[in-house]
Amino acid sequence: MTVKNITPVEHRVPTEKRHARNQHRGGVLWFTGLSGSGKSTLGFTLEEVLFREGFQVYVLDGDNVRGGLNRDVDFSPEGRAENIRRIGEVAALFADAGLICISAFISPYRADRATARAAAGEKFHEVFVDASVETCEQRDPKGLYQKARRGEIQDFTGISAPYEPPEKPELVVNTNDQSIGECIEQLATYVRANFKT
Ligand code: ADX
Repeated sequence: MTVKNITPVEHRVPTEKRHARNQHRGGVLWFTGLSGSGKSTLGFTLEEVLFREGFQVYVLDGDNVRGGLNRDVDFSPEGRAENIRRIGEVAALFADAGLICISAFISPYRADRATARAAAGEKFHEVFVDASVETCEQRDPKGLYQKARRGEIQDFTGISAPYEPPEKPELVVNTNDQSIGECIEQLATYVRANFKT
């Protein structure tokens, strides 16, 4: 669909003033990884840690957003593309508002993540939450891998739908053999180094 008769309006609060007040830049920490890799656990823990340190930070999480804004999209490649397109736009708005937006979505397709990156530009930081299918299936916190194996869920990422790992992520946290604490330290160090003004 082409957009017609639209005239964007400039904000009168400059980005620098937002950053100066918050003492950090806005940006998107885009977590990608399999279901059960630890995206939500790490995202919400990191949110707590950063909030305590004075950062303006907010998590957008797959299971939450799919209950509201994106309740009308499915898990087909087209559905996921639309899910990620919308989140990419919302995350970019959060970043523009001066917040650190942690987004925790499987986002299995490289092309969809490229769309999200394009929306946020240089404020976009891709974080690969790396865990093997075997590890995730063993954890199976929601019992979804079992259901997928029984054929009760179609197009399940890692089982009956693909996951395309990032080629050049800004950061990789490996939850196969690192503890949550170690991953959080790695993430918080990255944020302090890259977002503080
Ligand atoms: S994404 O692929 O479009 O990025 P998203 O992160 O929003 O996925 O949602 C993933 C969550 O939906 C999973 O954590 C899981 O709880 C649930 N889910 C339900 N069906 C599927 C499926 N077919 N594949 C992956 N996750 C699914």
